[in-house]
Amino acid sequence: MKRATFAAFTLACFVTAAHAQSGAYGQCGGTGWSGATTCVSGYTCTYSNPYYSQCLPGTASSSSSGSSSSASTSPTVTSSSTTASTTTSTGATPTGSQIRSDQDPVFHFYLQNQAARTLSLFFLPGGAAVLGPVGTSGYFTLGTTITLPNTDGSLLYLNVNESAPNSYKPLLLGTTATTTDWGLEGDTIITTSPRQLNFLACPTSDSTVYSVYLQEGNDTPSGSTCSLVSLHLDCLC
Ligand SMILES: *[C@@H]1O[C@H](CO)[C@@H](O)[C@H](O)[C@H]1NC(C)=O
Repeated sequence: MKRATFAAFTLACFVTAAHAQSGAYGQCGGTGWSGATTCVSGYTCTYSNPYYSQCLPGTASSSSSGSSSSASTSPTVTSSSTTASTTTSTGATPTGSQIRSDQDPVFHFYLQNQAARTLSLFFLPGGAAVLGPVGTSGYFTLGTTITLPNTDGSLLYLNVNESAPNSYKPLLLGTTATTTDWGLEGDTIITTSPRQLNFLACPTSDSTVYSVYLQEGNDTPSGSTCSLVSLHLDCLC
């Protein structure tokens, strides 16, 4: 599986490059883990489950990977299968709506979290939203905010980075909602105040992935051939 090899590669990089400390969002503990158990500055090794601890943003209140001490260890195990039902990322059938383009050169490219394409982690960092293959498509919940469940069930919000200096504003996934005027016109994704529905898709070094911007004017990134596209639900369901 492609993602698995990517992940293995990524982790291998962490291990070899930073044998002393794990990098941002890197693994830092868990059964069978023989790599770094501390994190780079600004990140704390956070227990997720017996098989996985991960470097998440923030400084420690309790530092190392085994700190599940807060999980009030009252051994009142009532019945047989009271094991933590929080399984890791794979498994559940995704719910929500896929968002895609219907125009060349990104005909049936799907909106997704760029980090999800290359990192196989318990908790994905926010960052760029991109258009990419259906296999790694995000499944969004649409309202005046647009949300994407993170791997741990928390929500990432689809935002337009209005701080960007040019008229094309990158689409980001963040832990708080800053864009709260999303809407639908039929199956078309728009912002409502003001009404905007032009997006710019720009090629990246990976031909299966395009970066995506909300185009609020006429600027275009220099040196790249971007295309104006609209974004749609893949069905009216
Ligand atoms: C938004 O864009 C500004 C200007 O380019 C940049 O400094 C900032 O880091 C971006 N915000 C995020 C969350 O990426």
